[in-house]
Amino acid sequence: MSIVYLNGDFMPIEEAKISPLDRGFLFGDGIYEVIPAYDGKTVGLAPHMQRMFNGMAAIEIKMEKTLAEWQTLIQSIIEKNGGGNLGIYIQVSRGTDVKRYHAYPENVEPTIFMMTMPIKPAVEADASTAKGFSVGVTQDMRWKRCHIKSTALLGNVIHFQEGYRDGNDEILLYNEENKLTEASSSNAFIVKDGVVITPVLDNQILPGITRNILLDVLKKDGSIPFEERDVTMDEVFAADEVWVTSSSKELAPVTQVDGKQIGDGKVGKVWEAAFKLYTAHKFDY
Ligand code: PDD
Repeated sequence: MSIVYLNGDFMPIEEAKISPLDRGFLFGDGIYEVIPAYDGKTVGLAPHMQRMFNGMAAIEIKMEKTLAEWQTLIQSIIEKNGGGNLGIYIQVSRGTDVKRYHAYPENVEPTIFMMTMPIKPAVEADASTAKGFSVGVTQDMRWKRCHIKSTALLGNVIHFQEGYRDGNDEILLYNEENKLTEASSSNAFIVKDGVVITPVLDNQILPGITRNILLDVLKKDGSIPFEERDVTMDEVFAADEVWVTSSSKELAPVTQVDGKQIGDGKVGKVWEAAFKLYTAHKFDY
C-alpha cells in the first residue's frame, strides 16, 4: 500500500482527501517536484528543493518549512514506502479558499502533498545494451513561464500525448524561431563532432536538475566539451547524437527524431561516456 503525506500526516493514499476548492485543483495554482531515489538514496535533493523554493517565491506561496525539515519528510516517506527505486513527488498548492476567485487569497495555508512512485532501475551506461528512444517534434505551444515548475501541466500533457499517440517516447519542442527549447517532460541535448550542446536556460525551459547535474559533472571532469547555446532544428536532425534528460529517465539516448534516424541510428559513444560520469557522481548531489 502506498503511504502518502498530506498537510502534516502520513496516511494510506486511499485516505488522502483534498477539497475541490483547493486552488491546485481549480487553477493548477501550485508548484511540484519529482526527486529520484535509487536504493533509497536521493539524487539532487537540495537543488530540487531550491527550485521548489524559487517556484514558490515566483508565485508568492509563503511557507516556513526549511530544507532540513523537507529532508526529514522525504526520508520518512522513502522509508514508509519500503525504499528501493522511487520518484518522490512533492506538490505545494496555494491552498483551499472558500470560493473560486482568481486573485491570490490571503490567510490560506498551502496544501502540501507528497507521494512516491516506482521508477525504473538506473540503466547500465553501455551503448550496446541501452534502448534508443524515438521522439516526435512539434512547435512549443506552452506558456512563457516554463522556468516555473507549475502543476498546470496541460500544455506539456497535450504535447506528450502528440508524441505518444505516434508511438514515441517523448516529443521535442521548438519555438517560433525554429530553435529547440526542451521536450514535453525532459530537457534536450545534441552532440556534434564530440561536443555536447544544450539550449541556454531562459523562460522557455525548465532548469532541469538532471541537466544541471550533468553539466556540472562534465565541467568538473573536463574530458567532454559542452556548450550552452541556441540549437536549431536543422542541427537536431544533423546531430551525431540526441539525448533527453529528466529525474525519472536520467540521460536517455535518442536514436530517432520524427521518424528519421539520428547519426548511425545506434546509441552513441558520447552518451555512454557522459552517462558513465553521471552515474559515478550523481549521488554527490
Ligand atoms: N519532468 N522539462 C520539463 C518540461 C519537465 O517536466 C522535466 C521533468 C524536465 C527535467 O527536469 P528534472 O531533470 O529536474 O527532472 C525538463 C518531471 C520528471 C515530471 O514532470 O514528471
